[in-house]
Amino acid sequence: MCGIIARIGDGDAVDTLLTGLTNLEYRGYDSAGVAVKNGSGLSVHKHEGKISQLESRVRQSSPGGQIGIGHTRWSTHGPPTDENAHPHTDCTGSIAVVHNGIIENHDTLKAELEARGHEFESETDTEVIPHLLEERVEDGESLDTAFRNVTQQLDGSYAVAAVSKDSDAIYATRRGSPLVLGIGDDCHYLASDVPAFLEFTDQVIYLEDGDVVTLTYDSYEITDPDGSPVAHDVRTIDWRPEDAEKGRYDHFMRKEISEQPTSLAQTIEGRIQMNGQGESSSPSQTDSGSLTDRRTAADGAPTATDGETTTNVSADADGTATTPVDELAASDWVPGINLEEFPPGSFSDLSSIQFVACGTSYHAALYGQQMLARRGVSSQTFRAGEYAMLPAPVDEDTLVIGVTQSGETADTLQSLRRAAEGGARTLALTNVVGSTAARECDDAMFIRAGPEIGVAATKTFSSQVVSLAMLAERIVRDQTGAPSEDSDRLLPELMNIPQMVDRVLEETNAEDVINRYRGQDSYFFIGRGIAHPVAMEGALKFKEITYEHAEGFAAGQLKHGPLALVTPRTPVFAVFSGRHTDKMLSNVEEVQARGAPVIAIVSEDNDRVIDTADDAITIPESHPDVAGLLANVQLQLVAYHVADYLDRPIDKPRNLAKSVTVE
Ligand code: AGP
Repeated sequence: MCGIIARIGDGDAVDTLLTGLTNLEYRGYDSAGVAVKNGSGLSVHKHEGKISQLESRVRQSSPGGQIGIGHTRWSTHGPPTDENAHPHTDCTGSIAVVHNGIIENHDTLKAELEARGHEFESETDTEVIPHLLEERVEDGESLDTAFRNVTQQLDGSYAVAAVSKDSDAIYATRRGSPLVLGIGDDCHYLASDVPAFLEFTDQVIYLEDGDVVTLTYDSYEITDPDGSPVAHDVRTIDWRPEDAEKGRYDHFMRKEISEQPTSLAQTIEGRIQMNGQGESSSPSQTDSGSLTDRRTAADGAPTATDGETTTNVSADADGTATTPVDELAASDWVPGINLEEFPPGSFSDLSSIQFVACGTSYHAALYGQQMLARRGVSSQTFRAGEYAMLPAPVDEDTLVIGVTQSGETADTLQSLRRAAEGGARTLALTNVVGSTAARECDDAMFIRAGPEIGVAATKTFSSQVVSLAMLAERIVRDQTGAPSEDSDRLLPELMNIPQMVDRVLEETNAEDVINRYRGQDSYFFIGRGIAHPVAMEGALKFKEITYEHAEGFAAGQLKHGPLALVTPRTPVFAVFSGRHTDKMLSNVEEVQARGAPVIAIVSEDNDRVIDTADDAITIPESHPDVAGLLANVQLQLVAYHVADYLDRPIDKPRNLAKSVTVE
């Protein structure tokens, strides 16, 4: 939950460190610090509060130097104070360390060190590391050897970097917390996440647990804990530095809400096939016959070999080619699903499907569960924090999907590990290529939303939902042997979602409407079916960034308790997907009867609902599984405008962090 950065090379270390910390501030922002090696040894500056405060102080003393480490904190052990801010040093001030994660055996180590005369300045778990290094260096070990030995003494999760006044190198390693290496022409970088140094280099190595990195002025070396070289691919990041900047927006969150037409187009690109490249509703045969084998082998579902090379033919039940696709009657032809990660048949022999996730990703997973259920495939969704404690039964035909935009959420990672221990097949649905989830799971599918800096997840939720819709269709086709009933309507609409979201953003009246309901006691969000997770997500966004009390309910649950909370000062957002409208309207009348104003999020052509509600925020007419996503974009805007009016720190809400890397 903290952000660490390190750099060695040409140029002024302080500049890079402060830029990097600013780009990492979404990971934690209650205190920050840097340590720079210069001609007079190690210069350490750390303060409680925002990076801007640190910057003004460091600039005053301008320590200089080309080797440095930095840290922005999200407190776990010890309150946000100057003393508890990182970097932490040893008794002599010769060694400085920054750390992201939790050292679980720090109490024992600290007691032993204090018994041997070490004096501690902070209440943090991290400070044991520089003192342990100090001892080993004093016993004659090189800092390299000492670093390897000390990290072996640590239990828990960590990404840690160390510098010393006596060494022209940076040592770093990771276990459970993210760490990436940035390879520049005349400077090398280490950081918790790519945006930290993206403006300096797009050449990145995602480090694995146990990797030990040694950075010097002219080289970088990756070895295992015993010193044997480890090779990793250098990846080129296709994100642009400005992707990690606000541009013309006041907040990253508002920028990311507006980016959804683009990010959704990226999510869909090449994964849904129209124009004669689809899959025919009746069995078909490609030129290579393998389909036939597979078709007969698997389940008779018409599939393409690898999705790209579908030849535009269709075939009778026995697979012989008959009519070219473009001559197929519309009713005979369905769009194709082309997931490069999952060719047809990838999910044929599943016994059960489970989702594990946290927060917004949990709501996206519930959305996915609904889409599967509506198409005859059952699944279960679990809060990862609970699942990690008591996993549901799995077997080798169980697919456990971890939905996590960062790919680093500790509870979700732990759940996936428990599922894998039980023999399940694991799949990471994530936004970060190279994230721990993507590397640890059997399979990974990327939602391609681009970097999301605002702590409140927005565009990643939408891309998760669309990714789950495509994944669900693949699973349904593999499981049932046929396209889902409404895929000929849903898939073309998914293709059109970027335009529909664009229209929502262009024509939204969310700000006007919510301005009429500010300063109320509580805000409730209700929905049924696919709109239930949207109601929960709307409430989460609202409370996360406005700090106002908000709750999401399954509309049918109101009369079983929550209705007692409803008063004229508790506006109710009622999310209409286009299904269950009558039942939702009776819930609307239920709360209106208690004096609560109702704001309907509803299709623009649904006059009945618009006339019944006290206010309406409309969305384009669409398939219900698309309507939920469009309604959620409106709820993102509702939350944003209230938080903006209340002048909340929207991108960095209090007490929260972008990826929660501790359980
Ligand atoms: C959502 O706005 C929050 N940032 C939080 O609930 C988040 O969704 C949750 O921590 C899960 O994060 P992940 O998707 O990176 O796993």
